[in-house]
Amino acid sequence: MLHPPDLKFHDPMNPEPIGVFDSGVGGLSVLRAIREQLPGESVLYLADQGHVPYGPRPMNEVRRFSEGIVRYLLGQRSKLIVVACNAASAAALQHLRQVFPEAPFVGMEPAVKPAAEGTLSGVVGILATPATFQGALYASVVERFASNVEIMQETCPGLVGLVEKGELETPGTRKILEQALLPMLRRGVDTIVLGCTHYPFVIPIIKKIAGEGVRVIDPAPAIARQVIRMLDAAGLRADRETGGTIRYHTTGDPEVFSVVLPRLFDATGEIIGMVWDGDILREG
Ligand code: DGL
Repeated sequence: MLHPPDLKFHDPMNPEPIGVFDSGVGGLSVLRAIREQLPGESVLYLADQGHVPYGPRPMNEVRRFSEGIVRYLLGQRSKLIVVACNAASAAALQHLRQVFPEAPFVGMEPAVKPAAEGTLSGVVGILATPATFQGALYASVVERFASNVEIMQETCPGLVGLVEKGELETPGTRKILEQALLPMLRRGVDTIVLGCTHYPFVIPIIKKIAGEGVRVIDPAPAIARQVIRMLDAAGLRADRETGGTIRYHTTGDPEVFSVVLPRLFDATGEIIGMVWDGDILREG
């Protein structure tokens, strides 16, 4: 079994990276927040673009992919794993904590609590993929926090694929979002929760459709704060204010990744092509 780096060997001058993964480029919205709050941390980012989208896939398949990715990231001495994907968190977070009991994990869940607390109209819209809506994690946050609000759910089919191509403000993205949002707005939704890490990249167009009066919740800054809390609790924070590096990995085409990356996020880094060898991930 793989373990996170032993604290005994933790070297604050040459700190281990944080491992972050998603089905594709969506997790870059989380990486962006981590980078803003922790510029001294190095990050290994893994995009499983060979398998994107995760949302419509069976849960056990997403669980298998997630386990292979985490095994790779821990093998690269990641000190903490951020599951920067709601679908993978829904399908695999519990399983990952069992398989890698000594690794600290931060996962995603739709931000239903702040939405339910803040809504004035009492109607909240949630945009996420089918895997997230099917998971026990989502059912549990709705049950715990949203008993007094009306919830409208939408999966936005096709939107993940467009963000993967770097299509953020095109007629295609607008059409999908209008189909999702207009019925919600007619019903009085005043808060929209982004329950998929790809969706923060289309916030500008969501705001154009919904208007500035509607609150859009991107959970990434809260996730980055949770990363800080966990690193501090374990004494694993990098002992430097800046200078963290990013290394990107994709199971898709590194050329395509290098073209789309600057449309989403301005931090450069080496891009490594990866291949699946059965359930094992290795550099290709
Ligand atoms: N970005 C992912 C999420 O947060 C998954 C998108 C997908 O692959 O369907 O759910």
